[in-house]
Order: sequence, then structure tokens, then C-alpha cells
Amino acid sequence: MTYPHKVKDISRAEEGRKKIKWAREWMPVLRKIREKFEKEKPFEGLKVGMALHLEKKTAVLVETIVAGGAEAAITSCNPLTTDDDVAAAVADFAQVYAWANETEEEYYQNLNTVLDFKPDFVIDDGADLMTLLHTKRKELLPNVFGGNEETTTGVIRLKNMAKEGILQFPVMAVNDALMKHHFDNRYGTGQSAIEGILRATNRLLSGATVVVAGHGWVGRGIARNLQGLKATVIVVEVDPVRALEALYDGFIVTNMLDALQKYKPDFVITATGDRDVVRKEHFEVAPDGLILANAGHFNVEIAVDQLEELAVKKNRVKDCVDEYVLPNGKRLFLLSEGRLVNLARPCGQGHPIEVMDYSFAVQALSLEYLVKNKGKLEPKVYTPPREIDEEIARIKLNSLGIKLEELTEVQKKYLADWKSGT
Ligand code: NAI
Repeated sequence: MTYPHKVKDISRAEEGRKKIKWAREWMPVLRKIREKFEKEKPFEGLKVGMALHLEKKTAVLVETIVAGGAEAAITSCNPLTTDDDVAAAVADFAQVYAWANETEEEYYQNLNTVLDFKPDFVIDDGADLMTLLHTKRKELLPNVFGGNEETTTGVIRLKNMAKEGILQFPVMAVNDALMKHHFDNRYGTGQSAIEGILRATNRLLSGATVVVAGHGWVGRGIARNLQGLKATVIVVEVDPVRALEALYDGFIVTNMLDALQKYKPDFVITATGDRDVVRKEHFEVAPDGLILANAGHFNVEIAVDQLEELAVKKNRVKDCVDEYVLPNGKRLFLLSEGRLVNLARPCGQGHPIEVMDYSFAVQALSLEYLVKNKGKLEPKVYTPPREIDEEIARIKLNSLGIKLEELTEVQKKYLADWKSGT
């Protein structure tokens, strides 16, 4: 049986099933949660509408939620990040509306189709689905009792909505769980952004000079892994504390103009969640041959519109690489149209499986938490409770056979007693 779908080619499902099987193999936490959901069926009768980068690990999350009794409809949260084989295979167990290289119009059409499914709960990455729900599709709001948001940028948008009194239901900031941003943003993007850049360029990082803009969770991960590969790393930050931390981590710290003019880097990678981090004034002084890549959620960190305006010629060099020629003949290379370099197909493969096991375990358990607390929470953005982090970490440690030290009764008493200093 196949669920309603609109995908590139449904006959590619078998290849997708193989990819999902491979992902499942390395996701012991979701496996355990799935066993529990299969027994307890916490989501019986629930309709879950989802917008997540649609690739093999995401499919394992969808399976897990469906195993708990829910019906699901999914699209991607980005026009370039669907794995077409996997999308075809997802139609085995859920409605799916997504393909790689959607136009902006098709992207919004697919988000709307997921909302047409009339979800009771929404799972989002970047908050486009929830924004649509609160603007053009308000008539559906009474159906929805809660949502989960996957990433930093989405959480910021939703907190702004809550501040302005617009948000209509409680949302779990999955990103804010320790088992999400400590691992996914840092180690996940730290590896997958570099992998995406290497697939696109086939260049050598050892000996290269790389500017990383943003020293948050994502930026730190990228910078540290580049350091491990023996690149010279320059960090650009607006936050003085994080800038100092970058210095103490062993990086050169300066602003973007200085980084480009003085150090003539080979690569610039943005990871800020901000816009115009690399813009006209920077393109003008950038060295010839500079490669520009973005790891932040939206394609606004590198001001592509300004680059388009400035360039006298644009040319697709190869998959994932566009060359822009400036009036003085200088060439700048933009990867994956300035979209998430670690996820945009065909060069981005997404995060390593293990970290998505944690992120999606937070998704699954946050959904369960909101179902259990239905009607009890306010329309605000909540951080998943610490117990969810600990449950996930314990399952993973158990799967690795790693023993955890346990507090003795005397130690528990000592730590709980304010008089216990002596
Ligand atoms: P964060 O808030 O921990 O770090 C962002 C850092 O950028 C902050 O230290 C901030 O001071 C700095 N910053 C802001 N504007 C700047 C500017 N103009 N120039 C230089 N630095 C600036 O956020 P996090 O978790 O590191 O996320 C960053 C972005 O990456 C977000 O858009 C997030 O949604 C996205 N993300 C992407 C992932 C991927 O798979 N590619 C995975 C996880 C998050």
C-alpha cells in the first residue's frame, strides 16, 4: 500500500528503503523509543504534519511516530534538501509531498498540502510551516494543540511570535534540549558542513585558510573540526564573550573585512542565523577564487542578491558550485546557492546518523510530552524537560555498554545539604 504522495519518482522507493534501513541500524535510541511506542500507542488518532529536511534519518523519525499510532504527512523545510529516493519510500507509511529542487512556489504549495491534512500537531524546522499556519492558514489553528521546532532560527522566530502574542499553541524548542544543540549543532554540523564543502569542491583543507562567521554551537563545531584538519581558522563574531572564547580555543579573531583583506582566505563559511553576514563591501575586497558556503538555516547569510547585482557574469561550474565574475574579473564561487551546505542536495548528505538519533529522539519524546500535557500548557515556547535529555543519553550509553558512576546515599545527602561544606 502507498499513502497519498507527490514525489519525484515513486519507482525509486526501493533505493530509499535501503537508505532508511542503513540509518535505522545506527539509531539505537529511536529504536528503543519505537519499541515503547509500539506497545503503548501514545499517538492513537493523532494527525502529525511535518516539515523537516526529508532524508533517511527523518524517515526513521516518521516511522517512529507512526509506530505510536499517529498518521503523518511530511514535506521538506527547504526546497533543496529532499532525498528523492527516501521521499518515495516514505509513502510506504505516511503521506509525503516533497522533491529535490522545488521552486519557491512548489515549496509553499507542499507546506500548504501538509496543512490541508488538518494536523493536530506540527513538527517544523525553521518555522515556515508554523508561520504559514499563523498567517495565511489561520482557519486551521483551532485543530492544532502543539508543535515542535527543530532549529535555532525557528526557535528565535517562534519566541518572537510568542512575545507579540501571536503564537496560538505551546511549542517545544527541540533545539534547546542539551541532547540536540550540544551534539547536532556542534558535532553534527561540524562534520556535515565540511563534508558538503568537500563533496562540492574536492579541495584540500589542510593548509587552507578558512573564515568561520559565528562562534555559536554550529560555528564552534565547524571551527574545531577545521582546526583538526590543520586549516588556519579565522573566527568572525559580534558577541564579545564568544569572540574571546574563540581566541582561547586557538583561532584568529577579527572582523569580516579584515579577515578578507589581511588573510586572503580560501573559504568563508557562515553559521550565524543572521543576514548579510557576507555582503557587497565584502565581495568587493574578497580574494579571487574565494569559496563561499553557508551552514546557517536560511539562505540570507551570504547576500546572494547583492552578489547577483554586483556580478557581470554567473556560471554553473559543476553540481553545487556557481561562479560569479565581478567587474574587475575577480571570481567568487558560491556553494549550493547559499543554502545549508551540509543539507542541500546533491552535495549535502545531512548530519551523521548518530546525532540525528538524538535530535529526533528529542522530537519523539517532546511530542509524547505535549500529548501527555495536552491542554495544560500555555501558548509559549518551552525547553524540553531535563528528563528527556537524560533518558536519551542513558539509552545511548546503555547501547554502547558504557557504565555510569552512581551517587551513593551519603553523596546524595552531602550534595543536598547547604551545611555540608566542612
Ligand atoms: P547560536 O546562537 O549558538 O550562534 C550564532 C552565533 O552567531 C552567535 O554567537 C552570534 O553572536 C553570532 N552572530 C550573529 N550575527 C553575526 C554576524 N553578523 N557576524 C558574526 N557573528 C554573528 O546559533 P547556532 O545554534 O550556532 O545556529 C546558527 C545557525 O545554524 C542557525 O540559523 C541555526 O538554525 C542553524 N543550524 C544549522 C544546522 C545545519 O544543519 N546546517 C544545524 C543546527 C543549526
